Amino acid sequence: MTSSITLRRPDDMHLHLRDGAMLKAVLPETARHFARAIIMPNLVPPVVTARDATAYRDRIMAALPKGMAFEPLMTLYLTEATDPKDVAAAHASGLVKAVKLYPAGATTNSQSGVKDFDKVRAVLETMAEIGLPLCVHGEVTDPDIDIFDREAVFIDRVLDPIRRRTPGLRVIMEHVTTKDGVAYIGETEKNLAGTITTHHLIINRNHILAGGIRPHYYCLPVAKRETHRLALRKAATGGDARYFLGTDSAPHPDHLKEHACGCAGCFTATNTMALLAHVFEEEGALARLEAFTSLNGAAFYGLPPNEGTLTLTKSGAAAEWPAKITGPAGPVTVFDPGFPVYWHVND
Ligand code: DOR
Ligand code: ZN
Repeated sequence: MTSSITLRRPDDMHLHLRDGAMLKAVLPETARHFARAIIMPNLVPPVVTARDATAYRDRIMAALPKGMAFEPLMTLYLTEATDPKDVAAAHASGLVKAVKLYPAGATTNSQSGVKDFDKVRAVLETMAEIGLPLCVHGEVTDPDIDIFDREAVFIDRVLDPIRRRTPGLRVIMEHVTTKDGVAYIGETEKNLAGTITTHHLIINRNHILAGGIRPHYYCLPVAKRETHRLALRKAATGGDARYFLGTDSAPHPDHLKEHACGCAGCFTATNTMALLAHVFEEEGALARLEAFTSLNGAAFYGLPPNEGTLTLTKSGAAAEWPAKITGPAGPVTVFDPGFPVYWHVND
């Protein structure tokens, strides 16, 4: 039995850090284990221009506790008014590592996202030319489409047409939640990768809805039925270099999660690495954990792997983490997998 595993220090290729006091509260939770993260730009107002991204990066670095090392990999929020020249300059300076596409209305703070995909054609063409990846929230927003089908329909109606029209564009299909997403990535030879969250490897829709509604398991894209979760497990742990970790760790204060219209997001920054060791061990794939958390994502983004390491140890005692962390607007619940975890990160 493996009881210890040492990985290159991991990267979280999809993270919500928010801003202000919430940023201060959640940043150490990620920086404790991760060397870098792709930082989502869905602030209010969103991070649209290179100037916004520079200012946000500076706020992140100012919020980092002394003695901690962390590199934020900045993204820009794509709007119908995004200027291709600004994007190209932000890329050339090394500031920005990706542009994020939110279909308008798909999720938290996506109101400024894209409604008419033709309007962002010139930006996408520029990105293909300069090799800047597009991170995609892959859900249609059409109210006629059932929420559990929104990812599969997005692939057919939006993602595949964009990729056919701009074949040189490097695309990350983020937080893949369906076997349809896995199949689409599987049949694609290049320029497409997928991130998978920790929580989608652990919960299915029963966890949210059966035996009482559990708002802390509600996120977008929403967890699907068990067959999809199993497909995601296979994709994440199967050694396919097109998949890598993007936690989508997304803090919301408890009172807004436990609400008549609760916010979407699971906060997993605190315990993600221990949970992933558990999942990969269950799948007999501990030896592939490092590729998923520390190598595949860096390679897709053209970054060197991190120099440092992270060691996890398995012991007879269940790992403990706080049930909640303290945020500026009250507590933020840490994702509860619902089973004991015996892997511990050696801090
Ligand atoms: O569950 C989610 N929460 N999904 C998203 O796409 C956004 C995120 C957030 O910002 O809270
Ligand atoms: Zn997200």
